[in-house]
Amino acid sequence: MSYSIEAEGLIKRFGKITALAGADFAARTGTVFGLLGPNGAGKTTAVRILATLLRPDGGRASVGGYDVSRDAHRVRQLIGLTGQYASVDDGLTGFNNLLMIGRLLGLPRREARIRAKELLIRFQLFDAADRPAKTYSGGMRRRLDLAASLVGRPQVLFLDEPTTGLDPNSRSDVWTMIRGLVADGVTILLTTQYLEEADHLTHDIAVIDHGQVIATGTPDELKARTGGQVLEVLPDDRARLGEVAGILMSLTGNAADSDVVAGRVTVPVADAAALPEVVRRLDAAGIILAGFALRKTSLDEVFLALTGHRAEENPDVPGDRDPADGRASVSAASAGATTSGAATSGAATSGAATAGATTAGGPTADAVADAAAPWLEAVSKAGRNSP
Ligand SMILES: Nc1ncnc2c1ncn2[C@@H]1O[C@H](COP(=O)(O)OP(=O)(O)O)[C@@H](O)[C@H]1O
Ligand SMILES: [Mg+2]
Repeated sequence: MSYSIEAEGLIKRFGKITALAGADFAARTGTVFGLLGPNGAGKTTAVRILATLLRPDGGRASVGGYDVSRDAHRVRQLIGLTGQYASVDDGLTGFNNLLMIGRLLGLPRREARIRAKELLIRFQLFDAADRPAKTYSGGMRRRLDLAASLVGRPQVLFLDEPTTGLDPNSRSDVWTMIRGLVADGVTILLTTQYLEEADHLTHDIAVIDHGQVIATGTPDELKARTGGQVLEVLPDDRARLGEVAGILMSLTGNAADSDVVAGRVTVPVADAAALPEVVRRLDAAGIILAGFALRKTSLDEVFLALTGHRAEENPDVPGDRDPADGRASVSAASAGATTSGAATSGAATSGAATAGATTAGGPTADAVADAAAPWLEAVSKAGRNSP
């Protein structure tokens, strides 16, 4: 089995903050690898290191067999990157965005035009090709962003929260595109806060929390860790939720989760054979049931079991350092600092240097500008000035 991405003991500190605390993971060639974790877990930091935009303070990483520190140039030739925040140039049309990246990558003009058209068709943007990107909807921008990261035909693609903030339709479009890319043999590292997304798209998952990988496995393996099944019980009288939880815990030996709003108690169960006894005990206690169901464990529950907190709420992160982070609206995400962008050498350029140019202050924008290594800026300027 070969791995297109390998990270060993990655460490990255920002002042007193340890963003990565010795993260280990590896992505098999030709698969979708999911880096799953809440806001602030270290996902973007890991991606930026792998995309050669940031140097680790410790550990090592390789992409396509090349060390990201020693062979950064080779790595850049293999990769594409779609940042967490849309990286397209607002003032340019969809077509010109892609054309510019193709030219930055050194494609002859004719070839760059062909490639741009191909991608616009593939991403259902052909009709909007001549409109400035600023008139695009959030879903269209994200598609353009994805297209931009593919101009250089990367072997390895980093998608940093590609669907955060998208409406369900646009999200499912992105999912379809990701599946298509994997079918073409591209290796994809996808970061996500959406457990459902990792479940649907990824072959392997590393769950990351506080800069460390706390679990790895296939979606099914991770689900199996909490027994594989969950029993949901809804008492007719919500006042009796606590009692129900007590009974479920004593019979299963697992911690039960009471959701007061939903009026529901859930508990992992390893063996469905315990269910008749559960029913008997609830009946003996005179608890009338409004609902009783056995279902597969969701990744959300897996996360809770692994970390002790839910993926969507991370009490340890003191506020969002970027307004576009997490579940911000699409427009906020798009208007925010333009991150790394498409990173196939020159392509990374466009994004990162655009970020430098549009930096609006704030730590993320600074960090991004910081990440735009001199080579990025230089290439980008060249690209911008070219006709
Ligand atoms: N440039 C930076 N300066 C200071 N702190 C940072 C910087 N980049 C990331 N961090 C911090 O590192 C941690 C991990 O951040 P990040 O990798 O962006 O997480 P994620 O992408 O999982 O939300 C967070 O606590 C974040 O605030
Ligand atoms: Mg992030």
